[in-house]
Amino acid sequence: MQTNILEVKGVKKYFKQVKAVDGIDLNIRMGEYVAVLGPNGAGKTTLVEMIEGIQHPDEGEITIQGKKWRGHSEELHHMIGLSLQETRFIDKLTVLETAILFASFYDLGEKRAKEVIELVGLSEKHKAYVVNLSGGQRQRLALGIALLNKPQILLLDEPTTGLDPNARREIWAILQKLKSEIKTSLILTTHYMEEAEVLCDRIIIMDQGKILSQGSLDEIIHLNNFYEVVEFSLHENPSKDWNLAPYTQQCIEWNPEKLTGKLYITKIQEDMPLFFELLKSKHIQLNQFNYRKATLDDVFTTLTGRHLTEQS
Ligand SMILES: Nc1ncnc2c1ncn2[C@@H]1O[C@H](COP(=O)(O)OP(=O)(O)OP(=O)(O)O)[C@@H](O)[C@H]1O
Ligand SMILES: [Mg+2]
Repeated sequence: MQTNILEVKGVKKYFKQVKAVDGIDLNIRMGEYVAVLGPNGAGKTTLVEMIEGIQHPDEGEITIQGKKWRGHSEELHHMIGLSLQETRFIDKLTVLETAILFASFYDLGEKRAKEVIELVGLSEKHKAYVVNLSGGQRQRLALGIALLNKPQILLLDEPTTGLDPNARREIWAILQKLKSEIKTSLILTTHYMEEAEVLCDRIIIMDQGKILSQGSLDEIIHLNNFYEVVEFSLHENPSKDWNLAPYTQQCIEWNPEKLTGKLYITKIQEDMPLFFELLKSKHIQLNQFNYRKATLDDVFTTLTGRHLTEQS
C-alpha cells in the first residue's frame, strides 16, 4: 500500500463572505505530482499556504507525514520546500549569495547552495545580481531555493505564470528530472492545462474553494462523460424553437450571436445522424464542422462556466 505524505481533511478558510477554501479533502502519496488547476480566485494559493503552515484553516485538519503544524512546525519546515506566487529576492545579492543566505536558514552551507544552482541550470549565472536575471531564471532560482533542504514535498504556487513557453519548458524539464531521480512529492498550482498534463500524475480542478473534479487527464474526461467534441457554425440563425437537447446525449453550447455551437458527445454514431437530420428538417446550412477529442479545457469550461484564461 502506498503511504500518504499529505492528508487534508475537511479544510475550510473563509474571509468574511468569501469562501476561499470551502471543504477540501485531499491525499497526496509519496512521489506523486499533483496539479491544482483553477481560474483567478479559485482558492489555490489559500489552500497551498495552509498546507505550508503560512495560513491556518478555520476548520479541518492538515497533516504532513502524520504531523500537524501545531507543535511540529520546525520538523515540518524541514520536510517541505516552497515557492510563493510572488517571489521577492534582494536585488543586490548575487545568485550564489542568495542561495547561501537561504541555505543558512537550514544550517546548510555553500556546497549545497552550489548544488542547487547547478540543478536548476544557473551555474553560469552564479555571480549575476538577482536584479539582472530574466523572469525564467528568477523562477529557476526560486525553485532551487525550494529544493535546498531536499524536501519530501515541494509546493510551487504558479511557478511558470507569465513566463514564455521556452522558460516554462526549462522549469518543466527540471521538475521531470527531479521526478525520475528523487522521490519528492509535488503540488503545483497553475493556469496552464498543458503544464498539468505534462508534469502531473493527478489533476485537481478547483473553483470557488471546492474541488470540482480530479484524476488523471483521461479519468477526468471519462468521469465527466466527455469523449469527443463537435464544433460547428451555421450560415443563418435558426428559428427560436432551435433546440438540440433531445438530439444529443451530452452537453451543448450555442452562441446565437456568433452562430457557433459545441456538442460534447459520447456516441458519435448515434448523435451525429440526429444532428444532421435536425439541420436538414429546418433547412439550416452548416458553415463549419470540426470533430476532435475532448480536452481538459472542455471539461473545465463546462464545470466552471469559465475558460482557463492564460494558455500557452
Ligand atoms: N487575506 C485575504 N483577505 C480577504 N480575502 C482573501 C484573502 N486572501 C484571499 N482572499 C480571497 O479568497 C479567494 C481565493 O483567493 P486565492 O488567492 O486563494 O485564489 P487563487 O486561486 O490563488 O487565485 P490566483 O489564480 O489569482 O492566484 C479570492 O476571492 C480572494 O480575493
Ligand atoms: Mg494564487
